[in-house]
Amino acid sequence: MKQKLVLLGFGTVGQGICEILLEKKEYLKEKYNYEFDVVAVADFVYGNVYNPDGLDIPLMLEQANAKKKFTKDVVDWDNIKLIKECNADVLCELTFTDLKTGGPAVDHCRAALEFGKHVVTSNKGPTALRYQEMKALADKNGVKFLIEGTVCAGTPVINLVDGPLAGCKISKIRGILNGTTNYMLSEMEKGMGYDEVLKVAQELGYAEADPTGDVEGYDARGKVTILANIVMGAPLNINDVSCEGITKITSDDIKKAKGQNARWKLIGSVEKKEGKVTGSVAPEMIDLSHPLAGVMGATNALTFSTDLLGDVTIVGPGAGRIETGFSILTDLLKIHKES
Ligand code: HSE
Repeated sequence: MKQKLVLLGFGTVGQGICEILLEKKEYLKEKYNYEFDVVAVADFVYGNVYNPDGLDIPLMLEQANAKKKFTKDVVDWDNIKLIKECNADVLCELTFTDLKTGGPAVDHCRAALEFGKHVVTSNKGPTALRYQEMKALADKNGVKFLIEGTVCAGTPVINLVDGPLAGCKISKIRGILNGTTNYMLSEMEKGMGYDEVLKVAQELGYAEADPTGDVEGYDARGKVTILANIVMGAPLNINDVSCEGITKITSDDIKKAKGQNARWKLIGSVEKKEGKVTGSVAPEMIDLSHPLAGVMGATNALTFSTDLLGDVTIVGPGAGRIETGFSILTDLLKIHKES
């Protein structure tokens, strides 16, 4: 049966997943017997559209690319009505992250779960702030709340822990969790200025809608909170995680580190010691011989310290249109396979 999707948010990630779905349509059908229709999209810039038989996605991508409003299948329903009344069975919640309140995304996810629709999201708001509530609501309604895209874009982290690493106890997770700042630090080392490189990171779709979230470390703190809750099973609050960003790191600091055979990295970590879980985000000067020192650009890396395998490290893209779009595909396929 065709999976029917409603997308909330048609920005970087929303367009990314649509491009992937269109490009891989035949492959997904042949390899996984996966077929889809995007039946509804809501976006505060382009408008809300609904067609129970499937929207004209190529036209919508064209219109978004030209910064024009949608013109076909336009409805005057608000987001919640659209989620509840459309015939989709999965909500892809791809609106921008608000780590203070969770933003409207919390209401979007709640509405979908209450109406028996699965939720797949890259939005860190509902996940970092309300994971327990969302998971309980999903369980109650016999649907899934899947969040691979909230940590390290499509690089498998949540699914790695749930799948291949199941059975291992994880005592510590440490690594580079924010693509924007890692990209900025890498480019600053090559001589680019802070403001200039931040602008490029925004253009490349790495940075949050408000990039303060990246440079002050709040985005990485949200991810540390997600890992603490989901991987460690600890109900850690976002405010329990100590947080310092990269705003105080100057070009001089970067040069000095180079002189000492080292490199600045923004490091997020979660640790379980004597039953207590703690989390932190802070810049660290890492010796060049350390594996994390070689992780450059928008790449993320996470080392899981486990009881059965010792350290397991995963390195991969941490941000970007297609890279985060892929995280949505991976969770959509998971729903398809397990339905
Ligand atoms: N702004 C985030 C980053 C996007 O740079 O890592 C992915 O969560």
